[in-house]
Amino acid sequence: MSPVVTHSDDIPVVVEPTKVVNTPQIGDVTFRTLPDEYFRSRLSTTAKNRAFDGIRSVLHLEQRPGIISLLAGKPHSSTFPITSLNFTLRDPVDPTIETPINLSQEELDLGLQYGPTTGIQPLIEWAYGLQKAAHGRNEGEGWSITIGNGAQDLIYKAVTALVNPGDAVLTEAPVYAGVPPMFQTMLCDVHEVETDADGIDASSLRALLENWPTDKPKPKVLYTVPYGCNPTGMTATLERRLKVLQLAREHDFFILEDDPYHYLYYGPHPRPPSYFALEKDQLEIGRVIRLDSLSKILSSGLRLGFASGPNVIIKAMNDHSTVSNLQPNSLSQILAVAVLSRWGYDGFFKHSERVSQFYKTKRDVFEAAMRRHLSDVAEWTSPEAGMFMWFKLLTGSEGREGDSDEIIRTTALERGVLALPGTVFFPNKRKSAYVRASFSQLGEKEVDEALRRLRTAILDSR
Ligand SMILES: Cc1ncc(COP(=O)(O)O)c(C=O)c1O
Repeated sequence: MSPVVTHSDDIPVVVEPTKVVNTPQIGDVTFRTLPDEYFRSRLSTTAKNRAFDGIRSVLHLEQRPGIISLLAGKPHSSTFPITSLNFTLRDPVDPTIETPINLSQEELDLGLQYGPTTGIQPLIEWAYGLQKAAHGRNEGEGWSITIGNGAQDLIYKAVTALVNPGDAVLTEAPVYAGVPPMFQTMLCDVHEVETDADGIDASSLRALLENWPTDKPKPKVLYTVPYGCNPTGMTATLERRLKVLQLAREHDFFILEDDPYHYLYYGPHPRPPSYFALEKDQLEIGRVIRLDSLSKILSSGLRLGFASGPNVIIKAMNDHSTVSNLQPNSLSQILAVAVLSRWGYDGFFKHSERVSQFYKTKRDVFEAAMRRHLSDVAEWTSPEAGMFMWFKLLTGSEGREGDSDEIIRTTALERGVLALPGTVFFPNKRKSAYVRASFSQLGEKEVDEALRRLRTAILDSR
């Protein structure tokens, strides 16, 4: 067995497996986990100094049997104008079958009222069950769940819990455009990590970390979207994931696994395990903060997602909620539970399978149109998850990287087609010959016309 890196205050030390402090026994397997003091030492100054309003921290006491609460300023539900809520629900297998659902009075009352900071219990329980079914992760392994208003809310809370101004952070590049502004606003020192069609380029990450200036603290987090990445569409291979996880241990950083496209995987092979699953397979827990989203699979308007990660970090995220938005939207949570509890996990997975096949068909339609219109002016790798095509315009002169910015922002727009130039997805706003096109919405005819227009724009700007 290889030694495990654990921590004393801020100083990483290598500990032989026999000396590791936390070794919970789950079944007949012993896991190595990082101790709570380690996570506490990694919290940002903001998280460490978070002040509380004195109400939310005692709100759970209302649940004590026999207690009479004079505590919270909850509005009286009899004053709310909504008295019932009915909707129809599609069958997860046969979408032509719709079942009427009437929320019970109890569900409605919960949905219209303030609720717990972490999210309502039935949704949290469902999320624990999902993490077990999808990633083999059990409660009691030193991690917990919090519900948020979408993954975006949770990424921001995770980042706020961990980084201080000036801290070095790593993001894959290209990267989901919603993340660099967080790091930049927090005055972080953002380092791009190269990716290709197989995911994060682990050898360039290793080189970056091994050549890190000795007088500068190493990065605290690495942000990545491992399935159907936004914008590149790539799904990281198992080999790359294992190498990145190994580097996280060697160089002491957290992996922010932002995975909204997990359930939109339609590749020909079984999907590689998530980082969250892999860290358990490797018997060393505590490096991964996983962000799930219900946006792409239930509804983006519900604004629901959940984070799974080390208890101390999830608590810091909850503490953030108590001062920012109090809690995730109660009514959204009740609607989600009404759907998910009626479907069961089996129904959820069947629904996911159907949705992922929907996007696979969309990808096929888009790619066929790309072959018709762009095969001599662009190159690309076919995505195996998600809803994005990332392609390189072959516009650069011999040996030079082209730049899609002008073509996409000006010429293509004038020809009536809108896409995003690659530069948008690089924190350092470097030039890029790439373009991101989303294939989630359009029908076959519109796709064909869009790519015909794009071809004209590319040729006109040569
Ligand atoms: C990679 C990535 N992360 C997070 C989000 C935001 O997800 P949510 O709607 O759950 O906030 C998106 C939305 O497109 C995304 O592509």
